[in-house]
Amino acid sequence: MNLNIDTYGQYLEVYKYSVEHPEKFWAEIASDFEWKQKWEKVLEWNFSEPKIEWFLGGKLNITQNCLDRNLVENADKKAIIWEPNNPNEHIREITYRELHDSVCRFANVLQANGAKKGDRICIYLPMIPEAVVAMLACARIGAIHSVVFAGFSSQSISDRINDSECSMIITADGVERGEKRVELKKIVDEALVNCPSIKRCIVYNNRNWEVDIKQGRDVWWHSEIRKVGANNEPEWLDAEDPLFILYTSGSTGKPKGVLHTTGGYMVMAGYTFKMVFNYKPHQIFWCTADVGWITGHSYIAYGPLLNSATIMMFEGVPTWPDAGRFWDIVDKHKVNILYSAPTALRNLMAAGDHFLENKDLTSLEVLGSVGEPINEEAWYWYHDKIGKEHCPIVDTWWQTETGGMMLSPIAGIGVAKPGFAMYPLPGIQPLLLNEKGEELHGNNVEGNFCMKFPWPGMARTVYGDHKRFQQTYFSTYNNLYFTGDGCKRDEEGFYRITGRVDDVINVSGHRIGTGEVEDAINDHDCVVESAVVGYSHDMKGQALYAFVICNKPVDDLIKFRNEVGKIVSERIGSFSKPDKIQIVKALPKTRSGKIMRRILRKIAENDYSNLGDTSTLIDPKVVDDIKSGVI
Ligand code: WT7
Repeated sequence: MNLNIDTYGQYLEVYKYSVEHPEKFWAEIASDFEWKQKWEKVLEWNFSEPKIEWFLGGKLNITQNCLDRNLVENADKKAIIWEPNNPNEHIREITYRELHDSVCRFANVLQANGAKKGDRICIYLPMIPEAVVAMLACARIGAIHSVVFAGFSSQSISDRINDSECSMIITADGVERGEKRVELKKIVDEALVNCPSIKRCIVYNNRNWEVDIKQGRDVWWHSEIRKVGANNEPEWLDAEDPLFILYTSGSTGKPKGVLHTTGGYMVMAGYTFKMVFNYKPHQIFWCTADVGWITGHSYIAYGPLLNSATIMMFEGVPTWPDAGRFWDIVDKHKVNILYSAPTALRNLMAAGDHFLENKDLTSLEVLGSVGEPINEEAWYWYHDKIGKEHCPIVDTWWQTETGGMMLSPIAGIGVAKPGFAMYPLPGIQPLLLNEKGEELHGNNVEGNFCMKFPWPGMARTVYGDHKRFQQTYFSTYNNLYFTGDGCKRDEEGFYRITGRVDDVINVSGHRIGTGEVEDAINDHDCVVESAVVGYSHDMKGQALYAFVICNKPVDDLIKFRNEVGKIVSERIGSFSKPDKIQIVKALPKTRSGKIMRRILRKIAENDYSNLGDTSTLIDPKVVDDIKSGVI
């Protein structure tokens, strides 16, 4: 299928075809990939169980599409260009042939260490090429990878390992991010004390740091690699065999293991990458996300490799050695497409434009944004100062659960508005509903954002808890997938995401469940109960505000706040620490015991107008008390 869409008119035509003949449309896209055996049926679905199956009967291996397929014409093309944290250390460049070789060898290592199809393997690695190698090696043998972002605490690692009973973990001695040393193996060692399912821990030597090696459990990546050959026949998987699990926070309970399957995810990641960025073979593509999030899965690893692209990968942070590092990298490696997050852009913008001086950014052709709504100021800065007014900005809306981009302008067709994810990609069928569950037709409407038809990259279940999958996404509205986001369709029919409508908070583009943070805070000896809400933050988009009830007077408030922050860091990760912690006597509760978060959100925003009806509260005076103690 010709996916080179150059005008909005062409987009409208392709879009129309895609919704009138969705199965034909997706089958044509899927035909651009290599299948060991073609599918018998394109789609089987219902959103009530729910059951979603794409390309039934098809057999494939995604790594054959990412790697082997490139050995013919692109063997010597760079697959990965890697920039180390420290700009004075050596860069690494890896061709498609070398990447194929590394993945096959590491797949052999996994098998030699007992891994097989269907096993769950946890990956806790920094931003090094080996993270991509490890993911692909799992995919090659049909093992299900579960990447845990290397900023999560040991408690979070063990929770995730235990939930999906991983048999193996792949990690490294450690990593430097900016000036910070992160001893990954130590964090893993602490996690593994509570993980009976783990039989093997493979350790990559990234920094030559000393680590404890537990005999019988831990082995070194480099010594294992020497024991195996370079040939590895891929495991031929069913299209619906699982590819990976990725944990994400919800409004309640523990994180959910979102499960993606092989065929549909491949089609989605490959198609959206090509379509949205309008990728051309000469281009160097840089996604600044971490491989530990879905953005890294789909647009560092799979999407680009499925399109024979050259990936830029960066180990460090945007502000070290100074806030010009991103621009140094663009200049040094002549990056053509930059895909980043509003929170990073706001930070770099705030650091000052002198960090842009003497940086040659003329290689840039397309700019992307993801993770949260981008505010106009950041959008214009990105457009004017980084893109020099000639690079299209693609504001891509999607979720861990969607597998790939769903709404976005398409680079090069020239229709965009700051802060708008614009329009659905061909094949995607969104709709808006009001609180009563009625569809909102026409333009200039705002409501809850849903999907009425499946797409190949959608999650198939929550690992081990299909009921939760049904309840979270398919129970709010009959026969629809509910995203959890609010959305506005403007007078021209373009979409603007307004933010979460549930108790999920988007801090710096990372999804944080309030329930999880509250559970952690409640672990403090002095805390009886807590309620966490989000409030607007200049840099992070949103930040966390915790209201806590203590069982005794707190003398040293600073010490208390530090202790609470530390508990949250240990239980989840430091990125989940509340920015503000206020001790209150009571929380605003209804007679049925429900905390009225709407009121807390308003107070946290310092917005006391229109607090709404407080008469249903057991004790409306509570609200004044809380207001008087606001930080
Ligand atoms: C939530 C999904 C998709 C990868 C990164 C986050 C918010 C995402 C946008 C955007 C406005 C956005 C939504 C969504 N979000 N992209 N372009 N504009 N909001 O993945 O952790 O699964 O979070 O991020 O609220 O539901 P995630």
